[in-house]
Amino acid sequence: MTLQKDSWGTRVGLILAMAGNAVGLGNFLRFPVQAINNGGGAFIIPYLVCFLLMGIPLLWVEWSTGRFGGKHGHHSTPFILDNMDPKRAFWKYFGVFGIFTNVAVAAYYCYIESWTMSYVMHSIMGTFRGMSQSETADFFRSYVDVQHSTTGIPFEAIIFYILCLLLNTWILSRGLKGVEKAASIGMPLLILFGVFLAIRGVTLGTSGATEAHPNANALDGLNFLWTPQYDSLTNPKVWLAAAGQIFFTLSLGMGSIQCYASYVRSKDDIALNAVSAGFMNEFVEVVLGSCIVIPIAAGFLGIDWVKENAGFGMAFQTMPYLFQNWGPMIATVAGVMWFGLLFFAGITSSLAMGTPWMGFMRDEFKFSQKKGAWTFGAVVLAMGLPTVIFYNEGVFDEYDYWAGTVSLVVFALAESILFAWIFGMDKGWKEINQGGDIKVPLIYRFVIKYITPLLLLAVFIGSVFTPAGNNWNEAIQSLFSGNGWPLDNSSLIKMLTNAGLKEQLAAASDEQVISTLKTKIFYTNVARLLLLSLFVGISILVYIAYQKRQKRKHQQA
Ligand code: TRP
Ligand code: TRP
Repeated sequence: MTLQKDSWGTRVGLILAMAGNAVGLGNFLRFPVQAINNGGGAFIIPYLVCFLLMGIPLLWVEWSTGRFGGKHGHHSTPFILDNMDPKRAFWKYFGVFGIFTNVAVAAYYCYIESWTMSYVMHSIMGTFRGMSQSETADFFRSYVDVQHSTTGIPFEAIIFYILCLLLNTWILSRGLKGVEKAASIGMPLLILFGVFLAIRGVTLGTSGATEAHPNANALDGLNFLWTPQYDSLTNPKVWLAAAGQIFFTLSLGMGSIQCYASYVRSKDDIALNAVSAGFMNEFVEVVLGSCIVIPIAAGFLGIDWVKENAGFGMAFQTMPYLFQNWGPMIATVAGVMWFGLLFFAGITSSLAMGTPWMGFMRDEFKFSQKKGAWTFGAVVLAMGLPTVIFYNEGVFDEYDYWAGTVSLVVFALAESILFAWIFGMDKGWKEINQGGDIKVPLIYRFVIKYITPLLLLAVFIGSVFTPAGNNWNEAIQSLFSGNGWPLDNSSLIKMLTNAGLKEQLAAASDEQVISTLKTKIFYTNVARLLLLSLFVGISILVYIAYQKRQKRKHQQA
């Protein structure tokens, strides 16, 4: 039995789907927070440099490895990588990352996505009307506190999470056509809503200033983001954050680009397509992403408030309150647009997270689209319910750190070495340019071979050995004066041992605090166990698939 070959309907559909994959919650929620926390204008230059030296080259690498894999009938990274270096058996287990990351990230990502669905509903119902700033913030706190929630609908967070998964699963069960259709509807609407809100943000000026916040000025927000500060160029912390954001936002190091690209026909262009989708993502991130939350919040509450309160909270705890300043009509419209925009951004990304699993199960175990989609939904539900129910206990953050941050760098480092040094630049360069509608500048041959892997290595080492207080100069001095390298609690090594939580525990005297911390440590370990089981589980599937392949080879021989 041969399964029908799947491929993208149109070029526009492909680019929209790829852009939809990249454009996600990261663009609107993660980018502004990263930018603020890393000094605004200090962040932008490293960010753009990382885009050019790591983002763009990796896009070409991932698109071309994906299309190369698709040519040989592979649609997920375990056997795509295996096929690039058949001599070494371990690559297929490295490729497990390209399925694992997607499933694990989908588990918590769909949770944020489900908030946006619920918040669209509450915007329409007028729930936030007449609420004070702290009441709006409390609404969110109560929403995620599943066990004691008082938002009106019992277990609202769980219900919306399941609805959100069902919707994703249903679209996925319609295969690539479903994904393409969702992107063709979602992306234009997202841009429309985004432009509307951005215009509002940029034209707000000082009109939102009040007695409580006399210095509020939307333009302060933009100036803070866009006034370059060159002294940041020597600060590794900012570079690490910038590189991390480039990864997350472009969906690099995750395996979902390879999967999408494996459905591109082998004579079709990827050189230009990759750049187009990448630039579309950057437009949405840098232009729309920076013109909404920050200027609007600065326009009503002042830039100092924004700097102190940068975080997830801004999007869900503050925006619905700020919209009320525009009267009930526009507040409803703005609420629907803002959370609708986040929803479209989210779903076109979470759909991408489903496809590597589906491709793998179809290639190796002859799963139908439907079966692939529903099993994906089931695994995500099992992984995701703990993030929903134990959100406050830190399961969510633990997933985000290991699956949404560390895994990406590890995988991207491995694949860039495989591509440039083992598969080889000669073959690699040919793959990138084959069928290309543009000629990739020759300098990128050099960048892909040397610069990108080195930068990745630097990022990886930087995250493993992050020095105390993120102060690199002090740490280097300490090292040379024989006092060793002081590690920060955010370094991978200290994260591994839960050093931060344990330090707090040692310092705590209050019974309540101690018990909260102990609970947190417990759930952090549960989260790791779940992630590890998922990784091992997928590895076993890869092993079984490999055995099946070997058997088939012997039978043919
Ligand atoms: N790039 C998306 C964003 O900016 C996130 C994303 C898309 C992702 N596909 C992924 C994350 C696959 C992990 C795995 O929000
Ligand atoms: N955790 C970050 C914060 O609190 C933002 C963030 C991390 C994020 N991972 C994400 C946002 C994934 C969206 C999607 O601000």
